[in-house]
Amino acid sequence: MKDVIVLKNPVLQGILNVLREKSTDSTDFRRNLRYAGYLMTYEIVGRECDTKNIDVSTVFEDIKGVIIDERILQIIVMRAGLPFTEGGSRVLDEVKSKREIGVVDAKRIEKGGLDMEIEISSFKVPEIKENGIVVIYDPMVATASTIVEVINRLPNKERAKKIIVCSILSTPYGIMKLRENFGSSLHIYTLAIDNGAKDGLDENGYIVPGLGDCGDRAFGTY
Ligand code: URA
Repeated sequence: MKDVIVLKNPVLQGILNVLREKSTDSTDFRRNLRYAGYLMTYEIVGRECDTKNIDVSTVFEDIKGVIIDERILQIIVMRAGLPFTEGGSRVLDEVKSKREIGVVDAKRIEKGGLDMEIEISSFKVPEIKENGIVVIYDPMVATASTIVEVINRLPNKERAKKIIVCSILSTPYGIMKLRENFGSSLHIYTLAIDNGAKDGLDENGYIVPGLGDCGDRAFGTY
């Protein structure tokens, strides 16, 4: 499964344990979402981005250094994606990598069952640049309905060199749906593929074992 990359790094897996643990409070939950976004973006950049050489003047001599050579667009899928993307954005800030950030406010309308409607109340995403790399931060690829909707609405998505999904948890159901819609050129980074209940989902579309409602846990609304 070259298109699905499960990041096994024990630091990231330790963060996943904290996010899964039901006694983690919302402050800690948000903090760990930010860490996950930071470290997962570090991994994604290392595996997916081209680089170029630049001149660096050290105290003793001029040498060549390496920087990211990509036009990156990071997309926040609200609301749970907010702290997650904040971490992802910070790692690019550290290396002063210029990029754009799009914001999507999406909500699942749960009617029971897996075919849920996605309500997008705000979609502020700039046009994709020629050969750009788009990274969509959605912590929970459950039914993948939200991501399908977001990608379908991306302006000029055919210009993108790569579209990447960055998620904490995913399911066999969600991965299958993304493959059906976009083929294996879409890369999905995740910390685990949960396989409980039926294809990783309960009857209301929640990931099993999962971590609960990510937005509620991050923002203390439970
Ligand atoms: N969204 C969540 O927050 N949790 C799930 O388990 C599925 C979707």
